[in-house]
Amino acid sequence: MFSLLIRRDGLIDPPAMSEFDAHCHILPRLDDGPADERTALAIARLLVEMGVRTVVATPHVMIDTYPNTTDAILAAVRSMRRLLKDSGLPLEIIAGAEYYAERGFLARIEAHDVLCFGEERFVLFESPVERPPMVLEDVVFSLKTAGYTPLLAHTERYRFLQDDKDAILSLRRLGVRFQINHPSFLLPRTSRRGELARLLYVKGFMDLLGTDMHRATAEYRVQTAPFLSRNPRLPS
Ligand SMILES: [Fe+2]
Repeated sequence: MFSLLIRRDGLIDPPAMSEFDAHCHILPRLDDGPADERTALAIARLLVEMGVRTVVATPHVMIDTYPNTTDAILAAVRSMRRLLKDSGLPLEIIAGAEYYAERGFLARIEAHDVLCFGEERFVLFESPVERPPMVLEDVVFSLKTAGYTPLLAHTERYRFLQDDKDAILSLRRLGVRFQINHPSFLLPRTSRRGELARLLYVKGFMDLLGTDMHRATAEYRVQTAPFLSRNPRLPS
């Protein structure tokens, strides 16, 4: 796999965005995503332009900040499906969530009150950026015990993984799968986030791609354009 990705100059080509977007804040009024139906449809339109056919709607679920219930998310997905149909946009939408790794999430897992997707029953979850939460291993263990596959959101973003590559292997051994934000591949040479995205990709640790789009802005429009700038060299 390595030799297929490394160009003669020692740099890599980024992966193309997949037709499946595993992480997107497309539902209106549930979190820090779109404020209304019009802006939600703008996201849908951009995804279709990019070649995405299926999107997992993953609003934040945080006990204090975004206490979204499963029923509220399912209702919002049903409304969004109607909107997409009325707009003639060929985009399939699946219900999911981006769960914050906290004690309240553990209770929801125990109650099987979580939204999962795919045959693997992926459950997308996120961690604080600086350091892993105390409950991280409990979250992973509980998800696995309950028959789900833990999928870490935007894996390249966490400083504790950028600083400690062994921690990535440890999570992998625990059964964690890795979602990467596609825009991270377009970050400049100096970006640690971009560096980790590329490393995960070439090591075969990129399980699913997502846009993590919150609104239809210009940064996503370049995703399907040819990758013109040079990528950073891979860390040894
Ligand atoms: Fe997100």
